[in-house]
Amino acid sequence: MAQKWTPDSWRSKPILQVPDFPDSAELEKTEARLATYPPLVFAGEARKLKSMLADVANGNGFLLQGGDCAESFAEHGADNIRDFFRVFLQMAVVLTFGSQQPVVKVGRIAGQFAKPRSSNTETIDGVELPSYRGDIINGIEFDEGSRIPDPQRQDMVYRQSAATLNLLRAFAQGGYANLENVHQWMLGFVKDSPQAERYRKLADRISETMDFMKAIGISAENHPSLRETDFFTSHEALLLGYEEALTRTDSTSGDWYATSGHMIWIGDRTRQPDHAHVEYCRGVKNPLGLKCGPSMTPEGLLELIDLLNPQNEAGRLTLIARFGHDKVAEHLPKLIRAVEREGKKVVWSCDPMHGNTITLNSYKTRPFERVLSEVESFFQIHRSEGTHPGGIHIEMTGKNVTECTGGARAVSAENLSDRYHTHCDPRLNADQSLELAFLVAELLKGGRDQDMRAAANG
Ligand code: TRP
Ligand code: MN
Repeated sequence: MAQKWTPDSWRSKPILQVPDFPDSAELEKTEARLATYPPLVFAGEARKLKSMLADVANGNGFLLQGGDCAESFAEHGADNIRDFFRVFLQMAVVLTFGSQQPVVKVGRIAGQFAKPRSSNTETIDGVELPSYRGDIINGIEFDEGSRIPDPQRQDMVYRQSAATLNLLRAFAQGGYANLENVHQWMLGFVKDSPQAERYRKLADRISETMDFMKAIGISAENHPSLRETDFFTSHEALLLGYEEALTRTDSTSGDWYATSGHMIWIGDRTRQPDHAHVEYCRGVKNPLGLKCGPSMTPEGLLELIDLLNPQNEAGRLTLIARFGHDKVAEHLPKLIRAVEREGKKVVWSCDPMHGNTITLNSYKTRPFERVLSEVESFFQIHRSEGTHPGGIHIEMTGKNVTECTGGARAVSAENLSDRYHTHCDPRLNADQSLELAFLVAELLKGGRDQDMRAAANG
């Protein structure tokens, strides 16, 4: 029998990846203040996302989750948010068409500020300082003052997240996400792409569909669903004091929800079943993500599934596979088989970023071919296991950065220094992100064709 859960029951468990706040009185004051602030999201929205993810778990939908590795205080402009959203929506259209299924849109945004680190300290030119752990904890500048964990930053995160969410809601519901706009942007991308030939067929089919709808009188003026979309937020629930302060009971159901974002996930380094992060997450009713890397065993996974989703509720749990292009074939099939054997309802999503990081010219980077190769293997494995490849989880930006190598407009190892802006891991730039969406759409279409052939021969 599981022990009683409370928003602070994680505090009695072992915990990894926590910073040492030198001023604990200040930390307590900040958490107490955060606990009086309004929630950033509403429980009803988290429930809606869960029900959309339940459809994905049942094979009827596709999850697109993406955004910065880490958001930052320095880059909090409207342009950044708009450019991200613009690319994200175009990806969503392409994927909706490729899958012929609804695409559930979840940003890594409006709360993605805390980072787990492989080392507690960083040494440059013989100087050793505490590692940067994300803007919610300390500053990225390499000086002693910046690296001291500062509780005030949680206040900044709350306010930045509120402002970001406000703009995203306006974009999603206020006309910016109009399918006709998004379609035009997408055509512009295809026209300018060195791979235009390859993408034009799919783009033309979307155009024809849009024209057909217009001809029969279905337009954004008379169909709100064409001019609006549901967009949700997510982040890694790493800094549990912040999460606890924003944990609220929903007055309609009496259940506890994390109100810092719609969906939260547990990282691959903090998923020990008896540790604090699993303890916190098991008690809130939000949809949860669980990162699964090469050290995840089938038994370990089933134990975590039972802890995090004891009712086996579809939509509650998304397993985010992040093995690396050369390891996915070894690890993913045995996890899928264990989940299938036990009849567990999950969404399978592919994070092709975190297992494919290398260092080139002393830059952390990710070769686009490897990202793509992991996604392809993920699809292939699900097809042969007869399970649903439910989504992708990527690190991306709407800006034209040079952080990942490759892509149609190839970024080379020498280009990396041109516009390398990330605060943490390398992100796909706008072109690379859209290209990935087109390639995934081809994979989704291939799967549908295969299903159709199987049905015809059935
Ligand atoms: N409302 C639908 C959806 O979200 C259609 C839609 C409107 C859409 N604007 C969009 C889809 C932008 C993708 C991107 O799926
Ligand atoms: Mn990352």
